[in-house]
Amino acid sequence: MGRLEGKVAFVTGAASGIGSATARVFAREGATVAGFDVNGTGDEDWKAAVQNAPGSFLVAGDVRDEGVVRDSVAQASAKLGRVDIAVNAAGVAGGGPVHLVDGDEWDRVVDINLKGTFLVCKHVLPGMLERKSGSIVNIASIEGLQGSEGGSAYNASKGGVVLLGKNLAMDYAKQGIRVNTICPGFIDTPLLRTVMEMEMMSEVRERIKYAHQLGRFGRPEEVANGILFFASDEASFVTGQELAVDGGFMAGHRFGITALMGLE
Ligand SMILES: NC(=O)c1ccc[n+]([C@@H]2O[C@H](COP(=O)([O-])OP(=O)(O)OC[C@H]3O[C@@H](n4cnc5c(N)ncnc54)[C@H](O)[C@@H]3O)[C@@H](O)[C@H]2O)c1
Repeated sequence: MGRLEGKVAFVTGAASGIGSATARVFAREGATVAGFDVNGTGDEDWKAAVQNAPGSFLVAGDVRDEGVVRDSVAQASAKLGRVDIAVNAAGVAGGGPVHLVDGDEWDRVVDINLKGTFLVCKHVLPGMLERKSGSIVNIASIEGLQGSEGGSAYNASKGGVVLLGKNLAMDYAKQGIRVNTICPGFIDTPLLRTVMEMEMMSEVRERIKYAHQLGRFGRPEEVANGILFFASDEASFVTGQELAVDGGFMAGHRFGITALMGLE
């Protein structure tokens, strides 16, 4: 029996990266997935999800568009019976030094990452309130827990996601709804590659890898495994938490002393 047997999950960002890996892992564990993504064509992970859980489907839409989000949640409930789990994985990179950030670019990043998360929560909550049951997992970042050079809009949006999660957890706990946040380290997805594959990032890329105690970027399915725990009934006494799935990035600063101690 799967860890999400019979559950229905609404997953944003389901066409790629962490979202599609989540869809695949959820389907393997017995859930049916209503995917939502601005890109209506899912990657190999999404296709594997549909193969494992045939009722699963992907809706094309923008998380910033409240009408589309509302209708897509309604469509998922109508087709699949209800939404037990919501995962907010749609997101974009973006930022830069504040004095150079265009106002529209700030809005784009904050609106997709933070407002989009708010809108999906807003529209899955009524059904969860009716059933007095639900699990919401939001994807923030280690960059929502601490600063990073040039982070600005991205870090502000992800810090907002972390605190929104804590407030949601408090407001809805007595209604049987749990809300938790996953804070990934640097994960090898198309989003990360667009930043890291820039020529000027080659040295920085190695330094960032090194800052993860495990010495590498993470894989999308490693984040999906954390999301699975929060989403499942195994986390029945866990709400309002952040889990950093980050290869030890948040454990502390790394200067190379382990090498001097013969531990690398
Ligand atoms: N990859 C990393 O290193 C990393 C680290 C920390 C946090 N995250 C977060 O994880 C989440 C998933 O990112 P990923 O790395 O899998 O990236 P990704 O680019 O592979 O996937 C993101 C998905 O979100 C979708 N999306 C973007 N804007 C959208 C919109 N307006 N409406 C609906 N869908 C939209 C994209 O089409 C894409 O399919 C994001 O919130 C990201 O900020 C990623």
